Amino acid sequence: MKNAIDSILNNFTSKEKGSLIPMLQAVQKEVKYISGEAVDKISKYLKISPSHIYGVATFYSQFKFNPPGRNSIKICLGTACHVQGGDFLLSTLKVQLNISPGETTEDLRYDLERVACLGCCAIAPVVSVNDEIHSKMSVIKLKEVLNKYE
Ligand code: FES
Repeated sequence: MKNAIDSILNNFTSKEKGSLIPMLQAVQKEVKYISGEAVDKISKYLKISPSHIYGVATFYSQFKFNPPGRNSIKICLGTACHVQGGDFLLSTLKVQLNISPGETTEDLRYDLERVACLGCCAIAPVVSVNDEIHSKMSVIKLKEVLNKYE
């Protein structure tokens, strides 16, 4: 039986190595992350080693290697947020959720990402959850905010 990844690969008639990035982009768009299964299938399809595929994919921040959580947390570490304690928020959250940026909690409740600037520096430090901006965050405030997202 064909799955989503097989269907994506079938759309590529060319098995040229130049198809690698468009394939990864298509998988990212459709499946939301580059799974081990996707890497294996692309590897067989294009006759490129999995390590080469990972090498290429990890170079680009657009590719994720974990399934997305139900809620996406973005911690801003731009200059304004950094000086207002963004780093501290991130390190606290890493311990609380037991994940690092780019990862997803085991229960798929949250995924975590660090970003450079969310464009609202005047209300730093800023955290966004599912693209909702939360301003002037503290560790306590962040915990309260996150509890609202199941
Ligand atoms: S630096 Fe965080 S919003 Fe600009």
